This record gives sequence, C-alpha cells and structure tokens, in this order.
Amino acid sequence: MKLILLGAPGAGKGTQAETISKELGIPSISTGNILREAIKNGTPTGQKAKRLMDQGQLVPDDVILDIVRERVARADCQNGFILDGVPRTVAQAEGLERLGVCIDRVVSIEIEDAVIEQRMTGRRVCGVCGASYHVTANPPRQDGICDLCGGELVVRKDDKPETVRQRLTVYHNQTEALKGFYENLGKLRLVEGNQPIEAVHRDIMNALR
Ligand code: AP5
Ligand code: MG
Repeated sequence: MKLILLGAPGAGKGTQAETISKELGIPSISTGNILREAIKNGTPTGQKAKRLMDQGQLVPDDVILDIVRERVARADCQNGFILDGVPRTVAQAEGLERLGVCIDRVVSIEIEDAVIEQRMTGRRVCGVCGASYHVTANPPRQDGICDLCGGELVVRKDDKPETVRQRLTVYHNQTEALKGFYENLGKLRLVEGNQPIEAVHRDIMNALR
C-alpha cells in the first residue's frame, strides 16, 4: 500500500499515519518531521527550510522531492509507505510521478478551519520522534512525556495562532488543488476529520479497501 494522507495543517495526518503505520507494518514518512530533524541537526536543508517553516510557508518543491526520493529508496519502503504532508503542490505530485513513485490511494482528511485553530492550541509534539499529542483529545500516558520514545513534549514553533492561519491560507491556495489532481486519477477518497480519532481511523481503513 502506497498511501498519501492529504489534509490541512492540524487535520490529523500525523496522528492517523502513526496508527496506520503500526497496523499495516509500513513506515510513515512525514516531510515536516524530516525537516524539523534537519533544522535540529543544522544541515544545509535545515538551514534552507527554517525561516520558511517558522513563517508557515512551503519549502521549495526541489528540496522536498530530494527528501522523498532518498527516503522511499530505503529498504523499509519495499512493501509500501504512508506519505504524511507530501505532496503539497501539484508540482510535487507531478515530481513524484516522474520519480516513478506510484501511489495506490489518496485519503483527504476533511475539516473546517475554525476547528483546526482550536485544536492547534492543545497540540504537543515529541521533540525527539515527532509524535503528536493533544492535551485533552489525545493525552500522553505520562504528562509531558512521549509514549513512544520517552522524549519531552513541546509546543511546535509554527503552532502560534497567526502562523496557523498563514498555514491554512497556504493550504487553500497551494495544496487543496491536489484533491482535483488525484480525483481525476480515480485515487481520491474523502474522510470526515471532525470526529473522534478512532472514528477517523475506522473511516480511513474503510477507504483503503
Ligand atoms: P507538517 O509538519 O507536515 O505540518 P502540517 O501539514 O501543517 O500539519 P500538522 O503536522 O500541523 O498537522 P497534522 O495534520 O499532522 O495533525 P496532527 O495529527 O498533528 O509541515 C510543517 C511545515 O513544514 C510546513 O508548514 C512547511 O513549511 C514544511 N513542509 C512540510 N512538508 C512540506 C512539503 N511537502 N512541501 C513544502 N513544505 C513542506 O493533529 C493536530 C492536533 O490535533 C494534535 O494535537 C492531535 O492530537 C489532535 N487531533 C488529531 N486528530 C484529532 C481528532 N480526530 N479529534 C481531536 N483532536 C485530534
Ligand atoms: Mg503532522
């Protein structure tokens, strides 16, 4: 299964990708997490990405396609993978096709902007592995500590309300058009994102059948 999870910032892509990854035994590839790791390590890619990410803008398509090309070539992707947050422009989707990355299914998690703005204030992420939590909707077992790796939970720098609004604008202007792109290929399925995490998961698994 080669799956793309589409959706606005905060729609729940990362949360769902983690569960599906465990259930199907395929890796979840989040370009956001890979870029945050690159920033932490001070790599050239990280230096290019930092200012854009802090402002809620997209990182250039060629940088993203280099990351994906390198990542999907690894052995753990042989039986499939989940792309979380990529592609994010039609140019990236076309780039994936040129790279020969053949996608089976695209699930768009649908949710209104107002719900997202509320959600983001409660998000906490693991500073080590990037796993996503929410103070009320999806709390960790131990306050402030990641269930998966024991890392410290932090507030993401781009979760400030004004940056969230900017990211939503970028989503509507540059990413939402991907729904039409994959609809035309017969690969798109829509899932209602404004319901409990388990219900979203159930609907996504049904959409994969
Ligand atoms: P990225 O890290 O991908 O951020 P994003 O797309 O803005 O999405 P988020 O990670 O914020 O949200 P999510 O959908 O994963 O939601 P989550 O599961 O955490 O990208 C960050 C930046 O990197 C971009 O702005 C850009 O600069 C750059 N970038 C990355 N990829 C790029 C690309 N391909 N091209 C160009 N630039 C790129 O859930 C959110 C919160 O809600 C959590 O607290 C969660 O616990 C909670 N929650 C989840 N589901 C539910 C539910 N059903 N009910 C209640 N709460 C829920
Ligand atoms: Mg995410």
